[in-house]
Amino acid sequence: GWTADSILTDQIDLIRAQIGDRKVICGLSGGVDSAVAAAIVHKAVGDQLTCVFVDHGLLRAGEREQVQRDYVAATGIKLVTVDAQEQFLTALAGVTEPEAKRKIIGREFIRSFENAAASIAQEEGGVDFLVQGTLYPDVVESGGGTGTATIKSHHNVGGLPDDLKFALVEPLRALFKDEVRLLGAELGLPPEIVGRQPFPGPGLGIRIIGEVTHARLELLRTADAIVREELTAAGLDTAIWQCPVVLLAEVRSVGVQGDGRTYGHPIVLRPVSSEDAMTADWSRIPYDLLAKISNRITGEVADVNRVVLDITSKPPGTIEWE
Ligand code: XMP
Repeated sequence: GWTADSILTDQIDLIRAQIGDRKVICGLSGGVDSAVAAAIVHKAVGDQLTCVFVDHGLLRAGEREQVQRDYVAATGIKLVTVDAQEQFLTALAGVTEPEAKRKIIGREFIRSFENAAASIAQEEGGVDFLVQGTLYPDVVESGGGTGTATIKSHHNVGGLPDDLKFALVEPLRALFKDEVRLLGAELGLPPEIVGRQPFPGPGLGIRIIGEVTHARLELLRTADAIVREELTAAGLDTAIWQCPVVLLAEVRSVGVQGDGRTYGHPIVLRPVSSEDAMTADWSRIPYDLLAKISNRITGEVADVNRVVLDITSKPPGTIEWE
């Protein structure tokens, strides 16, 4: 039968046999798959592993700390953080078209990762392996060839170009997401990482409708933190698949606050229920909770004077707005 313990022991033996005494790197995204994959490899080969975390400036509040502080404390993993916020903002300046944003973010991510990998290789005297958090459904999907057109170009931490000369280490290839979460818990990883809902690689960059700027990121980060805090407090984290929070940065509407007229931006709440993100329905969140979230966002986030609820299923809407 399947036990977290037996899976771990088997994988550790396999990884030791594969890697031997050579060096390995892994990109961490803040999500559960890369975190668990890296932790297993670290159990197997210790400090032969170096992890890389690219902070592209499009993360949510607290995510960098979860990786840099909590994850490192839980695992003892050797971590290099790349501070690439300025690089990404510069590359995104003036860009509003969703696919253009996605491609730029993917490209800059690979650039940052390659640079970090090159300096690690230099320090370590060569790196031969790259850890990827590929799950069983990803394996099936890429072999399946469904022939559907690309709707959005996905950016994943694992989505690196073929000309990176690494052999892959994929300890999660036989597992489903819930099994990965069990392993993560068994490994003592931070609950915020093990239980994290899906969050897209391009991050908040595709949740600002319009140009991505520092000020808009700060605003959206604050609104997003409020929504997450309230959904968690209401005990809805497992009932809801995820809840993108979107800033309509190029829309303004008139409002009134205190005794003055405001002319601010709307924030969209997009809570969805889903099994696999292929289809989704909008989540029927209690009205009182929506009211509380709306009051907090308009009260606490400068320049936001309206909160709206997205009541579109997928299809026809996608989960993310871009
Ligand atoms: P859509 O918007 O296509 O999203 O309905 C389906 C699911 O995928 C997530 N998503 C991404 N995840 N890289 C990721 O790792 C991406 O580029 C990306 N784009 C969307 C989205 O959050 C939802 O769970």
